[in-house]
Amino acid sequence: MATTIKKTEIQDPLSLEANSKEANSKKRRNGKVPVQGQEERKKTVNHRLTYEKPLITMHSLGATNKYTGRALSSITCPEIDGVNVARLVSKFGSPLYVVSEENLRSKYKEFIQALRSLYPESYIAYSYKTNYLSGICSILHQEGAWAEVVSGLEYEMALEMGIDPAKIVFNGTHKTSDDLIRAIKGNSMLHIDSFNEIYQLESLAISKGRPANVAIRVNMNVGYPPWNKFGFNLESGQAFEACRRIVSSGSLRLNGLHCHVGTYIADSGLYHQAITKLIDFALKLEKDLNIQIEYLDLGGGYASANTLHSQFLSGAAIIPTLEQYANALCQPLRKRAGEFKRKPRLILEPGRALVDEAVSLVTTVVATKRFADGRKAIIIDAGVNILPTAYWFKHEIASTQDIGSPLETVNVYGPLCMQIDVIRTEVRLPPFQKGHVLVIKNVGAYNITQSMQFIYARPAVVLIHNGKADYLRLPESAKDFRHLEVIPDHLQVKK
Ligand SMILES: Cc1ncc(COP(=O)(O)O)c(C=O)c1O
Repeated sequence: MATTIKKTEIQDPLSLEANSKEANSKKRRNGKVPVQGQEERKKTVNHRLTYEKPLITMHSLGATNKYTGRALSSITCPEIDGVNVARLVSKFGSPLYVVSEENLRSKYKEFIQALRSLYPESYIAYSYKTNYLSGICSILHQEGAWAEVVSGLEYEMALEMGIDPAKIVFNGTHKTSDDLIRAIKGNSMLHIDSFNEIYQLESLAISKGRPANVAIRVNMNVGYPPWNKFGFNLESGQAFEACRRIVSSGSLRLNGLHCHVGTYIADSGLYHQAITKLIDFALKLEKDLNIQIEYLDLGGGYASANTLHSQFLSGAAIIPTLEQYANALCQPLRKRAGEFKRKPRLILEPGRALVDEAVSLVTTVVATKRFADGRKAIIIDAGVNILPTAYWFKHEIASTQDIGSPLETVNVYGPLCMQIDVIRTEVRLPPFQKGHVLVIKNVGAYNITQSMQFIYARPAVVLIHNGKADYLRLPESAKDFRHLEVIPDHLQVKK
């Protein structure tokens, strides 16, 4: 690490004058400084360099970070799965989401293998809302993933992907009667979220003359801010009451329990606690209500290699491996499975852990700035409208070329006309210039599904497979989102 004093330009007399602006305006009011003379002086200094404040900047020259072992020099990412990023930009434009098929498939395999090596009756239902691009769902279904959906719309998407309705887990706080009837007919895994939904399902099942297989969503205290908006609380006895009501209805068959602790859970111990509580509860239900619990669904929440704004250490260094998550869940179940009437299946609903690291956002520097206080900023062509997770995470930004200069501290902004369009603050990066192409890593979770056209249309998504790139989604144009608009006759533009 070296400290240098930034070279400054020649002092501009105009700036000196600006410093004593207050004094001058006083003199002017007293008639001592002729305005005409000032104009002439301005003309003579027009050719001079503008004044830039002296600034002390910290240079990092490849020093090692004792926490992660990684050098503090910037990372470069000239290729994604062997495909040159700059060439992707020339062909598909910038910004551009790039999906790695290889990464997606290998994440799924890694997770399911870790689970099944410990507990063979394990299944993964991919959480659609994380990223429901057809190409992405299709890859995961090819690998064997079931679908986890939270609305009638997502349910329909899963059916369109050709998935067997019996392999759809249907969560969510708001399901319409039509949604519920379709799920009952399809024998999907229906997860009840409220007493209202119990009553609604009872009357639907009775009117259709067929019992519905259901599970309830349980929320519990595991030392993490509880997601108590969802399901029935365990500790208060509410979850037990819900189960008693379902069992006594005669028209519903309770065969599963569901719990989703939260998202980006960086402590696998929470899953150990959650499954232990769920096992205890399931065994109590089997004993007290004489039912058979066929599956336990522990939801999603497994972290990816991103770093929260509140984290000091890098996410990649501290998040559990998929094997550790599998261990935390499967070991207690292995031990206690024999206590059940029949060994229950284990279902997980990961989203982030499967897709986040498979997607990068390629972007280009469009401008560089120097603030009045000397700090530097760059503006890129990707804003928070296509990267909303920038509000949560310190997304890693890589250069596609080795700039070879010491790093500097910069703020990175998107192009939107809002001051809150901030991608990173005070991040150590090489001195990027207009035109440099950058790669923002690990953006596959919740960005494409939560992106919106705002000021700019949404960019294309391409898939890299076998060394080539294909569209997964074409770039949007104004036509795409305007075509739903209707202009009443009296507002028609006269041409
Ligand atoms: C019920 C349910 N299951 C699965 C998920 C996926 O979570 P994650 O992407 O954190 O794995 C969510 C997301 O919040 C969820 O609400």
